Amino acid sequence: MLRRLHPEQPESFAFTPANAAWAEAQISKYPEGRQASAIIPLLWRAQEQEGWLTRPAIEGVAAMLGLAYIRALEVATFYFMFQLQPTGSIANIQICGTTSCMICGAEDLVAVCKEKISTKPHTLSADGKFTWEEVECLGACANAPMAQIGKDYYEDLTTERFSEILDELAAGKVPVPGPQNGRYAAEPKSGLTSLSKYEAGRAQYNASAQLAVDIGDTVKRIDGTEVPLIAPWRDGKGASHGGVEPVEDAPRAVDMPVKEVREEQVARPEPTPVKAETPQVVEGRKPEGLSEARGGAPDDLKKIKGVGPKLEKLLHSLGFFHFDQVAVWSEDEIAWVDDNLEGFKGRVTRDEWVAQARELAEGK
Ligand code: FES
Repeated sequence: MLRRLHPEQPESFAFTPANAAWAEAQISKYPEGRQASAIIPLLWRAQEQEGWLTRPAIEGVAAMLGLAYIRALEVATFYFMFQLQPTGSIANIQICGTTSCMICGAEDLVAVCKEKISTKPHTLSADGKFTWEEVECLGACANAPMAQIGKDYYEDLTTERFSEILDELAAGKVPVPGPQNGRYAAEPKSGLTSLSKYEAGRAQYNASAQLAVDIGDTVKRIDGTEVPLIAPWRDGKGASHGGVEPVEDAPRAVDMPVKEVREEQVARPEPTPVKAETPQVVEGRKPEGLSEARGGAPDDLKKIKGVGPKLEKLLHSLGFFHFDQVAVWSEDEIAWVDDNLEGFKGRVTRDEWVAQARELAEGK
């Protein structure tokens, strides 16, 4: 499938203040110069906010990360999880069409999509509320056939139930995700055959469905005000809003009733400080080197596993040309060399150069 940008694009893109703070917190996870690593979470957040990935959003994320636009475009067009065309204002329906689901009726679910949404995938329904697509295995094969709708899984579907779900969503309701045929999770259809003593005390829904109900954001656009922003690496306290407080009544693309976030999700306990073992620091000492190879004939240091042409050159510049030089490095000398291999720090210890060099010096 060709993955191209949609011909019609909005004028601009901006993260909501809360999402911008979230994005900034994600970027702060990475060391200076490695901010590009935040590209996928940021593109994903832009998609969660807008419903699809627009060109201005891709450009905006590239600018935030100091990347050439083409680099962000490469990521956005490579991964199928990024929607490059407008999706339904309520949901993009993803039907699993892989083996288990196909055998159990995925093609019939696709037929429902064609009838109720659009004859073609990635095409808006007449009312603009839905789009659909067929996707590869979503990992819920024991509950085939299934569909991902928004952020949650609807499993054990029949065409009738699937059709009802679409109607309920269109009417502004959010059906409870999870198995739709009465199963609790992925137990046999005839009922539990083991662990049945736990049946009485279990929650109303299985863990995934229960969490989906509790969070209540199945088909809601994410504006950043839903749950506290977690950035423990920044303030050490576990939660940070990046200076932006959640806006209680921020406009939502889909006005769904949002269930209260469970108490324990908001009030996270202060992390217990872990007593770190103090590592033993070995003071480094530069081994004695040579100004040039003895007899103008250096050993082939590349025979030491882990040493390539670059490292060999670096070793020469430090005055090391022969196996017998490396073979006698003491612990503090190893520490010094490990610390001074710019771009290859720690390789002497990691690849056990000294033991290797000893054998090579002995002609083994
Ligand atoms: S085959 Fe459909 S979820 Fe795996």
